[in-house]
Amino acid sequence: MKVVVLTGAGISAESGIKTFRDDNGLWEGHRIEEVATPEAFERNPDLVYQFYNMRRAQLKDPQLRPNDGHLALSRMEEALGDDFTLITQNVDNLHERAGNQRVWHMHGELQKIRCLQSGECFFWDQDLDAKTPHPNGLSSKLRPDIVWFGEIPHHLDESDQVLREADYFLCAGTSGVVYPAAGFVQLTPSTCHKVEFNLSETAISPLFDETVTGPTGQTLPLWIDDFLKRL
Ligand code: APR
Repeated sequence: MKVVVLTGAGISAESGIKTFRDDNGLWEGHRIEEVATPEAFERNPDLVYQFYNMRRAQLKDPQLRPNDGHLALSRMEEALGDDFTLITQNVDNLHERAGNQRVWHMHGELQKIRCLQSGECFFWDQDLDAKTPHPNGLSSKLRPDIVWFGEIPHHLDESDQVLREADYFLCAGTSGVVYPAAGFVQLTPSTCHKVEFNLSETAISPLFDETVTGPTGQTLPLWIDDFLKRL
């Protein structure tokens, strides 16, 4: 039984991490074009560094914890092993902290930085700015390993492959407006059972067999534990 799960900002909302498309389209007070595009980084690198430094620092907040939705997905991976794939649009580390090991961060990770010259990535849980020494002693610039608008997401080839072989596709806490993730449901075979979990219906709800409405901290544990009982 092959299960592919796609998560978005909604699954981390109950842990206290803000989603993107609330508050009049502003993300923590910024328009997306100010902080989440390559052009923004060219124009005002300090603002972009500072914006992601704040997001990265939030991961160290002692109050921040994976919620019951994350934990349910961890139980699912434990039961299914290699038949389970978790693709997330989230750049936080709450899936890993819940115990998931097979996690593909298609939009990058807050706790990674990337060398602009070599493309090499490094684990990084501190602040980053233009003066941060390069971990390999090089003089090239470093950037957050975040996939910005206009850039190509990570893991697209592997994602395409697992989606085409999926028996179940679960899509949790995403508004379904950012592609290619919003189109993943259409890559699954016609035999695949497709379930969406969200507070309410989304633009892509008609493409699913069912939409389970409610907070994922409640809906995912119920659905997943029932699924695992029937395995
Ligand atoms: N339970 C379930 N769903 C929730 C919850 C919750 N507790 N809280 C919010 N949601 C839903 C909202 O209804 C919304 O549909 O989560 C969705 C969050 O949508 P977005 O903020 O658009 O986040 P996401 O879909 O992950 O955004 C995709 O856009 O800005 C870029 O790269 C960024 O990865 C991000 C991508």
